[in-house]
This record gives sequence, C-alpha cells and structure tokens, in this order.
Amino acid sequence: MHLHHDKHHAAYVAGLNAAEEKLAEAQHRNDLAGQVALQPLINFHGGGHVNHSIFWKNLIGEKNGGGHLQTSPLKAAIEEQYGSLDTLSKLVNAKTAGIFGSGWGWITYNPAINGLDVITTANQDMPSTLGHVPLLGVDAWEHAYYLDYNNVKADYFKNIWRVINWKDVAKRYDEAVAHHQKK
Ligand SMILES: [Fe+2]
Repeated sequence: MHLHHDKHHAAYVAGLNAAEEKLAEAQHRNDLAGQVALQPLINFHGGGHVNHSIFWKNLIGEKNGGGHLQTSPLKAAIEEQYGSLDTLSKLVNAKTAGIFGSGWGWITYNPAINGLDVITTANQDMPSTLGHVPLLGVDAWEHAYYLDYNNVKADYFKNIWRVINWKDVAKRYDEAVAHHQKK
C-alpha cells in the first residue's frame, strides 16, 4: 500500500500536473485542437488522482475498526436492498473480478434510483462521469495487489473487506442522500 500510494498514486498526480501545464499552454496559444487532444490524458491522470483519494480514505486497519459496519442509514440501506453486507460484498467482488483489463469496482449512491448501486469503471474512469456518487472504491488494477497477492486477485478481493472504513463510506452515503434530497 505504501508503494501503491507513493509511486502509483504519485505518478497520476505528476501526470495530471504535466497535462494541466500543457493545457494552459494550449489555451494560451488559442489552440483548441490541442486542448481537446489533451482530454484523455487529463481524464486518465485526473481520474487516477480522484479515485485513489477516495480509496485511501475508504481503508483502515482492522485494529482501528476496519471491516466493522456500524449501525447507520447506510447499514439499513444495505440490508434493505441486498439483505446483508455479505451478499453485497460478494456482488461487488463478482462484478469487479469481471473487469476486462484494469479498472475499479464501486459501491455508489445512484441518484436515478435514489439508492445504492454496484458498478465498475474501466481504467481510471470516475463514477461521477456516469452520474453516480462514489461511496467505496475497490482498486482492481494489478498494481493494487501484485505485491501481497501475486496473481491471486480473488484473495485480494476477499481480504479487502477486512480493512474497509465503513465510517467513511457511511459518511459519504449520508452526504449523497442529503445532497439528493435538497434538489
Ligand atoms: Fe491504484
């Protein structure tokens, strides 16, 4: 996880900064085609930064409460929609394991159904571009698990639930619901 944060996440930040510098130059030249051409790079590095910033806050050690879902509106919603956290986590794992190539598995708040949803995004695409509010992200890039799990991705997916910071996820859920109800 240190390597993941210090090397991989840092590379997205550096990439985003470089792309934004090039964008500013293209804007300065009134080079619209140049600005448009930079968008995929900005989506990739910017998405990488945004997604990892959520991921780190989603995680906490077992000693500090990792894996424990407290009584909360989120817990009630999980039980109402999925029956149990166990069922939901298995659904997330199944969907995330099905990603072709690199990407992320997500538990989101989906405003269209005013409820929880499970989606995947490719590469560093963000749930917000699909209209979803990200609550919990599972990094399914090889760089997330190869050090601890080699090629056994399934064990990484199984074990990550032991270190989920459900307090953080519940807070994101409360904020998403409050924001939706204001509209
Ligand atoms: Fe990652």
